[in-house]
Amino acid sequence: MPGVTDRVIACRDCAAGYAGRDVFTGVTLGVAGAETIAIVGPSGCGKSTLLLTLAGLHRSSRGTVLVDGTPLESGDPRIGLVLQQYGLFPWFTVLRNATLGLAIRAKRSGRRFDAAGAADIARALLEQLGLGGKESDYPRRLSGGEQQRLALCRTLLLEPEVLLLDEPFSALDALTREELQDLLLTVLAERRVAAVLVTHSIDEAVYLGDRVGILAQNPGTAAGEPARLLLEANPAGRRGVGRTDPLHHQACAWMRRRFAEAVRA
Ligand SMILES: Nc1ncnc2c1ncn2[C@@H]1O[C@H](COP(=O)(O)OP(=O)(O)O)[C@@H](O)[C@H]1O
Ligand SMILES: [Mg+2]
Repeated sequence: MPGVTDRVIACRDCAAGYAGRDVFTGVTLGVAGAETIAIVGPSGCGKSTLLLTLAGLHRSSRGTVLVDGTPLESGDPRIGLVLQQYGLFPWFTVLRNATLGLAIRAKRSGRRFDAAGAADIARALLEQLGLGGKESDYPRRLSGGEQQRLALCRTLLLEPEVLLLDEPFSALDALTREELQDLLLTVLAERRVAAVLVTHSIDEAVYLGDRVGILAQNPGTAAGEPARLLLEANPAGRRGVGRTDPLHHQACAWMRRRFAEAVRA
């Protein structure tokens, strides 16, 4: 996607929750251009709720989410969401699953769907994502890693300005996870897409995030109080710092300490 360098998602003092009770509050973040923010938090702290709010699929109780300076609406095409459970349709082939988002978008906007054109674009991206030759397979024949590649493909084909990823690799074995982390970094850099990723892995956050965040209750607050987001520059940066680099390990140790402080009640 050439020529797009300034993709921004932002929210200021945002809160959201369920049944009148906020799950998180006071969340302010802005993600620039091709930047990635990786947020870690304990289970149930509101990571998915935050992503759904940033996707315009869950209404905030306070604060507005802006993309490129304009408010987000439900189903906004500027946002791409990749869910933990992949969201694939078992009765559609890999190629059909990949192009499904494009087909739905065309239908919604009343345009004719150019199935052959979409298939060509999808084939090229499937190839890049390591799914070449699998176009006619059904999702049940794919490994977990391949299913996640396909979910990523379907979302990327929609050319979102911001990619939101909800624990995208947590169901995968360690080696597959590392492979897909590297693939994600490659496609994000190539496409210059901003990303917000939530994970329960400190190691993953440090490896993927230009900035890293911790979503947790403030220390000392009563149980059930909304979580807050602590955002920091990643001391390891992300590009060029490998998993075996001492800087990566130092950054993980630093984040573990910050995390321990942040969640200590
Ligand atoms: N649809 C819902 N209705 C009511 N409560 C919910 C709903 N979804 C999540 N919650 C609650 O909100 C809190 C945050 O959930 P979630 O955002 O899924 O956390 P995480 O993704 O960090 O594990 C949890 O206490 C969860 O039980
Ligand atoms: Mg979740």
